[in-house]
Amino acid sequence: MTAIRFIQPDGNAITINAESGVSLMVAAQENDLPGMAAICGGCCSCGTCHVQLPPESAEKVPAPYVGEQQILAQLPTATSGSRLACQVVVTDALENISVQLLEP
Ligand code: FES
Repeated sequence: MTAIRFIQPDGNAITINAESGVSLMVAAQENDLPGMAAICGGCCSCGTCHVQLPPESAEKVPAPYVGEQQILAQLPTATSGSRLACQVVVTDALENISVQLLEP
């Protein structure tokens, strides 16, 4: 299990112990966190699992592949710390990262 700190859209933070191998999207949904519509179900096509990572967390996460980059490029609210939660797989290396959930 890996501790992931999700910051909810209202600013409240909650730490989840996520199973290795699941995506951040699944970890958020399994814990009924807000801001995770994920309407394509993790197919990297909708962008509704958009989250933002602070720099110290982003550097622990493997770089996005081209398909994720293409979806992020279409999101008007994307920043340098933006990721698609369905494309970030939980591993031990992600211990204690912070993930900002966004307003739906
Ligand atoms: S759930 Fe649709 S892009 Fe992630």
